[in-house]
Amino acid sequence: MPITFDDTNARPFIGRGAVDAFTEPVAAAHARLHAVPDDEQVLGWVDWPKNYDRQEFAHIQTAAERIRKQSHALVVIGIGGSYLGAKAAIEALGHTFRNQADGEMEIYFAGHNTSARYLIDLLDVLRGKEVSVNVISKSGTTTEPALAFRILREYMENRYGEEEARKRIYVTTDAEEGALLQLSDEKGYETFVIPADIGGRYSVLTPVGLLPMAVAGLDIEAMMAGALAACERYGIGNLAENPCYQYAVWRNLLHADGKSIELLAVYDPALEYVAEWWKQLFGESEGKEGKGLFPASVTFTTDLHAIGQYIQQGPELFIETVLQVTKPSVDWTIGEDPANLDGLNFLSGQTLNEVNEQASRGATLAHVDGGVPNMRIEMEELDEFNFGELIYFFEKACAMSGLLLGVNPFDQPGVEAYKRNMFALLGKEGFERERANLQARMQAANLE
Ligand code: PA5
Repeated sequence: MPITFDDTNARPFIGRGAVDAFTEPVAAAHARLHAVPDDEQVLGWVDWPKNYDRQEFAHIQTAAERIRKQSHALVVIGIGGSYLGAKAAIEALGHTFRNQADGEMEIYFAGHNTSARYLIDLLDVLRGKEVSVNVISKSGTTTEPALAFRILREYMENRYGEEEARKRIYVTTDAEEGALLQLSDEKGYETFVIPADIGGRYSVLTPVGLLPMAVAGLDIEAMMAGALAACERYGIGNLAENPCYQYAVWRNLLHADGKSIELLAVYDPALEYVAEWWKQLFGESEGKEGKGLFPASVTFTTDLHAIGQYIQQGPELFIETVLQVTKPSVDWTIGEDPANLDGLNFLSGQTLNEVNEQASRGATLAHVDGGVPNMRIEMEELDEFNFGELIYFFEKACAMSGLLLGVNPFDQPGVEAYKRNMFALLGKEGFERERANLQARMQAANLE
């Protein structure tokens, strides 16, 4: 059963007619997404499930097998689009406590922060374990992963010697350029190619995500099959037949109507990093030129006891999109307790999934009453096939949503601003003028 999109609880806020008015703009944006040739080199992901490089795919599978044999732990180094998708998949589809569970390949992430404590603690837990490293950076120049790799490379060389470290370090980067490619060529690391026409946040189904996933033991063939099904299903320009585009239209309608924050609500902590990945996808794609819904996420029922109050009765800023798995693979039947001291015998015989489902229904209705339009995206099972479909659903919806909003969903000019300041403050060559300006500003702002 394919992913479904349900707008029933958004309709009272706008009315279905408004959606139909988008039929023409959606058809035009669809034509742009399927344009050939792709002059700006940003649309490689659109037909990727059909066109992906089978040889590179086999290379990933062979390397993953080798890594699983040679190591207990894989450290995945990357930031933003170069790690969130893999982490989302591994957490959604694997053991909740993978790194503590018997017989599981341990997967750690690094290079997504500049915390000394994080790296020191990571090196501490790696002690006594056989380790491999997969460093991922499309540009090959991003500071955070480059720094983490410098530290982990030194760790690997000290621990294994240069020759053995070479066999345990795997590089995923651009085929043509970047410091990481140069370093990799010089050291002789095994490399995997990130296609030039697939940007970071659209790259989870390339070696960027697939190698760590395969090392974690996920079935990446099934994932690509799910993405292919989605590619065909959502490759239709007719809004009435394309739920992925309907979601994009609803987001735009509700944003234009004054809502400023979209909450992606999940009811299983296994989906927390799917929400993190989704936030980056939509945030970096749409938040520009003073426009865009702010993408936030909530894990229910946990957050119902934290910010549920604000959602229910705070300012009417929110729309809520519930991402629900309808047939979770495991369940737990609640037992009968003769003493019934906790008063929970009314739940005996019901299951935790049923409780979760009723919590979801109850929260949805309450939030709608509190002025929060609600949309629902449902997937039947949480497995590799469905995950591949979901990733593609959101990528296509995001691209469509950005085009309808009138922004370029494939660039991220704003991310450069902090980098320039950081480089200037850290004394990088070529940033001397910015450094002097920033120092004067810091003095005035009492930040020195
Ligand atoms: O989506 C994006 O383009 C970004 O989030 C990048 O993935 C992130 O900045 C990491 O870039 P790189 O892979 O070049 O190190």
